Amino acid sequence: MESISKGLEDVNIKWTKLTTIDGEKGILRYSGYQIEDIINAGALAEEIQYLFLNGELPNRSQLDLFREKIEAGYDVPDYVLNAITNLPRSSDVVALQMNAIAALAATEPFKWDKATNRDYAAKLIGQMASITATGIRHVLGKEPVKLKSSDSLARSFLSAVFDSEPSERAVAALNTALILYLDHEVPASTTAGLVVVSTMADMYSGVAGALAALKGPLHGGAAEAAAMQFKEIGSPDMVESWFKENIDSGKKRLMGFGHRVYKTYDPRAKIFKSIAENIGLTGEAKNLYEIATKLEKLGVNKFGPRGIYPNTDFYSGIVYMALGFPLQNNIYTALFALSRVTGWTAHFIEYVEEQHRLIRPRAVYVGPQERKYIPLQERK
Ligand code: CMC
Repeated sequence: MESISKGLEDVNIKWTKLTTIDGEKGILRYSGYQIEDIINAGALAEEIQYLFLNGELPNRSQLDLFREKIEAGYDVPDYVLNAITNLPRSSDVVALQMNAIAALAATEPFKWDKATNRDYAAKLIGQMASITATGIRHVLGKEPVKLKSSDSLARSFLSAVFDSEPSERAVAALNTALILYLDHEVPASTTAGLVVVSTMADMYSGVAGALAALKGPLHGGAAEAAAMQFKEIGSPDMVESWFKENIDSGKKRLMGFGHRVYKTYDPRAKIFKSIAENIGLTGEAKNLYEIATKLEKLGVNKFGPRGIYPNTDFYSGIVYMALGFPLQNNIYTALFALSRVTGWTAHFIEYVEEQHRLIRPRAVYVGPQERKYIPLQERK
């Protein structure tokens, strides 16, 4: 039988100048810049968004102009927000994002064009922020909102969701999360979106496709699923017995652990952990953090020898909880998407502009050989 690459493991589907991962050493670089250097230097998320869409870091005036383009997206049309608020408040927020993005796909006059692709992508970052803020507020029983201009996307977003001025620490933590989740080469969501845009469908449809793939618990859904697992354990005293009953027995997968590419610690997991350590955790977030650190030790002990370590989703939910986002309705995965929309669109642009071809793989047929069709009335 002809072989297939199950899960497309180790299949290269494009060239990229955007992100590189060394899965053996646990190194992540954005266009050559190491993730730790970007975070330690206190970069603004918008600088890195600019880097992804333009290939170089911006100077001050380039950044100001780029931020204006993002902020132009904050004012999404009401019918886009209605695509969220028409749905029940019990909805999954990533599905609400998909609905709103589909409303943009229905109405924005988008055409692939080198002269305007990046402007659409910048505007989409802003649109996604108002969509995500409204989606989160909707499931929390609040009115829709459009972001207002400030000195950063992180600040505008937190103010919009919570109707109050965020602390500097909260702004810095969300800004870092926006950078950490910004891109990760071609995981399932980016690949799904690339398949869509390879048909020359519009950028919004590509993002809707990417969102659909992100939602599942093996990919972006793990951001919420990991925190849910900590909550299910309930208290640090229960970690060992829960691990024995659920993980040692093979009943469940340890969420926030394992990665197709990393065979060691995901560098983003370490950064999220250090934010959690320094953000001043209290209440439920503190309890979940204590559970997570115990679980991490047991998980690394058991799975480390097989190259299965904490990934970016292991500690991110705890950080989001510390920022005031509740653990419900897939909100944590929606926050992942808010950041990843930059990576998705940057990959789409790179693919369509430089290396476009319809993505159309093959399947190896293993069903019955030719047989005679029997009409329904003659079938027993
Ligand atoms: N817990 C328990 N066993 C695991 C785990 C885990 N988290 N991850 C992998 N394995 C085992 C799996 O059971 C299998 O064992 P066996 O060979 O005995 O059947 C082996 O490792 C290979 O698993 P696989 O699913 O074929 O490997 P993969 O390369 O497709 O795994 C993964 C990648 C992310 C799907 C997997 O590690 C996983 O399910 N992790 C939990 C969900 C998760 O945290 N996802 C987030 C991924 S990273 C960030 C993101 O995309 O959001």
